[in-house]
Amino acid sequence: SNSTFSKDEKLLNICKLLETNIEYYNWVGFYFKNGDKNELKLGPYVGEPTDHTIIPFGKGICGQVAVSNKNFVVPDVSAQDNYIACSITVKAEIVIPIFVNGENIGQIDIDSNTPDPFTEADERFLEFVCQKVATLL
Ligand code: SME
Repeated sequence: SNSTFSKDEKLLNICKLLETNIEYYNWVGFYFKNGDKNELKLGPYVGEPTDHTIIPFGKGICGQVAVSNKNFVVPDVSAQDNYIACSITVKAEIVIPIFVNGENIGQIDIDSNTPDPFTEADERFLEFVCQKVATLL
């Protein structure tokens, strides 16, 4: 809206800020509900390119969060059976939903190359980030 920067530029800058400043955040990206389809579509991200630009609801960690509307913290991705691997270097993942007017419209997805790095402090911090993101969508 009233800004020099597009929505996608703002989201990309948030990804860059998080990936640059938090050493165990190694891939940071946004997925959003794809129109009225029951799938997620990849938005701005930083880190290795991924083949998984579309994720059906229910599939993988991201697809499960699209359905559950809950944070999903994965300390060890190798212990998950419903998991979509994007890179062999990834050890852990955190996905936090983004709500606009109470509706789950997308999520922030963070992969870590460090085993079991995410704490409740990450959840609270990323919930705050997602609340701010919701105001600029
Ligand atoms: N690992 C995710 C897929 C997205 S990548 O991490 C970028 C999942 O299981 O949903």
